[in-house]
Amino acid sequence: MSGDVVIRGIGELVTCDPSAGVAPGIIKRAALVARDGLLTYVGPESAMPPQPGLAELDVRGAAVVPGFVDAHTHALWLGDRAGEYAARAGGETYEAIARAGGGIAATVRATVGATVDELVAVARPRLQRMALDGTTTAEVKSGYGLALEAETRQLQAAVALGQDPGLPAVVPTYLALHAAPRGDRRRYLDAVVEDGLPAAIAAGARFADCFCETGAYTVEECERFLVAARAAGLGLKIHTEQLTRTGGAAMAARVGATSADHLERATDDYLHALAAAGTVGVILPGASLTLGGPPPPGRRLLDCGATVAIATDCNPGTSNTESMPLMISLAVALAGLTPAEAVVAATCGGAAAVGLADRGVLRVGARCDVAVLDSPRWLDVAYHMGGRPVAMTIRAGVALGA
Ligand code: NIG
Ligand code: FE
Repeated sequence: MSGDVVIRGIGELVTCDPSAGVAPGIIKRAALVARDGLLTYVGPESAMPPQPGLAELDVRGAAVVPGFVDAHTHALWLGDRAGEYAARAGGETYEAIARAGGGIAATVRATVGATVDELVAVARPRLQRMALDGTTTAEVKSGYGLALEAETRQLQAAVALGQDPGLPAVVPTYLALHAAPRGDRRRYLDAVVEDGLPAAIAAGARFADCFCETGAYTVEECERFLVAARAAGLGLKIHTEQLTRTGGAAMAARVGATSADHLERATDDYLHALAAAGTVGVILPGASLTLGGPPPPGRRLLDCGATVAIATDCNPGTSNTESMPLMISLAVALAGLTPAEAVVAATCGGAAAVGLADRGVLRVGARCDVAVLDSPRWLDVAYHMGGRPVAMTIRAGVALGA
């Protein structure tokens, strides 16, 4: 597990590096060299300097893409909501189920008492499936605890999972405002701001997130939380404009959020504001497809000049999937992205949404995080819908699950 490797025999290398040419920046008959997990050579195999003593991986003509950066997941949950899934298919709505005490609150009840070890055990297979499908970095949110200690345990579990070299790297996010609290909302907000934020930072959180939605948290509540989180040093994220139009996206632009996620019901004005603020628009095609309603606004975000990321939203209610390749296919089918735009959004875009410039792109100095496809053609990562197109995933120069 040294992170020193030559990957050769690459039929098509997708770099997602604009300096390698028109997106997604393809180099044919390519090779990669990594030392200590970082790329020291990216280019044609014929021009690669000799690499004496380095382990070699010959991928025999396969296409290689950057490892996927899944910038929005709720992978830490206990319990089961398959019954809700079936009920929704029979005509129940997500909102009605939530009002009856199901939905996010049901997962909170099942998850709130879990220890760090229990959380790690239940999430590990999910992160293993992510790795098998080419994900090398996953953002993982808390948000199924509400109570402070439970949220902290979820963040600690996210950190522990990211330290496992067999799994994707993890970016932990404190999703303090998710299910609406029972009782005094103001007191809950006060506790989150005064005690929750410092505890989350001590546990390793990098971002703060909130569910800005009718029936969840208001724009004002979310703004108070995000402004305090920014002052405490966290990056900012928001779930917004998903089920109803609230104006949360405009607020996200105003407070300088790193990303605004969902956005199905955002106006063009909101999307322009996000683009102007440099806020990444994260589209979640699995949730859009599961819930129905407007399509994910991928094309609209790009046309407004915004950076777009694609993510799974991996969660038990609205998007029970770990597959980034499937999300890429769905982004092409539902969100109007070209396959090239979708691959860039799932890699480079995801990296921007988690504020990490060292991944999502294959160039000298970046991490050697790649997905080796089972095809000589990169396009199959989109075209082969649900086809499990990833043969091998390499994180920092080391094969995952090998
Ligand atoms: O991103 N919208 C809020 N959170 C999740 C759903 C979580 C759940 O239903 O458990 C989402 O869709
Ligand atoms: Fe979410």
